[in-house]
Amino acid sequence: MMKFKENDTLDVFIEKLDHFGNGLAKVENQYIFVKNALPKETVKIEITKLKKKFLNAKAIKIITPTVDRVSVPCPYYEVCGGCQVMHLAYFKQLEFKKEKVVELFQKFAGVRDLEIEQIFSGKQFAYRNKVIFHGKNQMLGLYQEKSNDLVEVENCLLVEEGLNQIYHKIKEYLKKNSDARIEDLTIRKTSSNEYMLILNGDLNLKMFLSYLDQFSLKSVYFNQKLVYGEEYITEDIFGFKFRIYPNAFFQVNYEMMKKLYQVVMDYYQDKNYQTVLDLYCGTGTIGMLVSSYVKELIGVEVVHDSIIAANQNQKINQLPNVTFLEGKVENHISKFQNIDSIILDPPRSGLDSKTRETILKIAPQSIVYISCDPATLARDLKELLEDYTIVKVHLVDMFPNTYHVECVCVLSRR
Ligand SMILES: C[S@@+](CC[C@H](N)C(=O)[O-])C[C@H]1O[C@@H](n2cnc3c(N)ncnc32)[C@H](O)[C@@H]1O
Repeated sequence: MMKFKENDTLDVFIEKLDHFGNGLAKVENQYIFVKNALPKETVKIEITKLKKKFLNAKAIKIITPTVDRVSVPCPYYEVCGGCQVMHLAYFKQLEFKKEKVVELFQKFAGVRDLEIEQIFSGKQFAYRNKVIFHGKNQMLGLYQEKSNDLVEVENCLLVEEGLNQIYHKIKEYLKKNSDARIEDLTIRKTSSNEYMLILNGDLNLKMFLSYLDQFSLKSVYFNQKLVYGEEYITEDIFGFKFRIYPNAFFQVNYEMMKKLYQVVMDYYQDKNYQTVLDLYCGTGTIGMLVSSYVKELIGVEVVHDSIIAANQNQKINQLPNVTFLEGKVENHISKFQNIDSIILDPPRSGLDSKTRETILKIAPQSIVYISCDPATLARDLKELLEDYTIVKVHLVDMFPNTYHVECVCVLSRR
């Protein structure tokens, strides 16, 4: 029987963090998820939502803070939906992510005694090379948590400085030009400071572009059309060149992306495999980086822009043993036989059941599964572990200050 109402306040003790960075309290058999509260703290909370089986709340006063609490440098942290664990000391964020993976692997895949190597991030701020802002009237900002309402920020502390500078300038433009509208704005950059803007809206393009002249932009897309510069920007990873088109996936944390890819390269270095698949290959980055260690590398990717880029990247980097197929993995996978190893890097939803089953039929010697959602990874592992054992799991901290976890899980066939 629910005894609380919305807006009720009470003092609670926080037992642990849930997988999304909320503090978890239990009061009279009622679970309460508390935003901005940490384990071992006593906090005054206000109930924000009544759900069937639990309550949501926010911490309105930290009565006894834990030593793991740090001051938050972002003034928008309470309202913005981008970060969840900025109030937790960085080394504790790493512990939180490790525990989350251990729990999910145990719960969904029955895995115990997991060997995890954690690769931490040198930068906890200013690490993102891509940001998406949304517009409404003359405002341009980030979405508030679980809402389409905007918070117009001064800076986003997670994004690289150059992206914030462009954002400032465009906000100023909107304030000065009351007839200009921006519905959404994506800014991407490479490590050599090539910038791409992708925006939709209604504005005087000529005036807008000359206003942004100081930034020497490489590529601007407006209402789905290239209106300035090149069609792509080019990133360098370990001496390989990768073209990035507007609709193509590309990792957003350059330093940690290299660390992640290094883990995969190190694995393949001494394997002498003949044929390796790179499924969900995006612009072909991972496959191309390991291609010198294998005889033949085949990538599969559904997004047309990514496949165009992958084919161009293959030519620029002169890798004749690499080919790419366009389409869904689930539509291509049945045709593969005699595959030594499979690289998997699916979106958060993980693998579909047909892909899981077919991988078991193909029976490669090893699988390197890269995942940005340990819950779907653990679900997929449950099936794959019928024939495979986990060699190692690497946690690459690609997204500091958020609850997001990037894993590389190496599997070997029994
Ligand atoms: C996490 S990204 C990985 C990209 C690439 N491995 C990299 O490191 O840049 C996932 C990729 O899977 C692609 N994708 C999503 N669903 C797919 C499907 N059913 N079949 C093939 N590719 C898919 C997305 O377009 C995206 O490029």
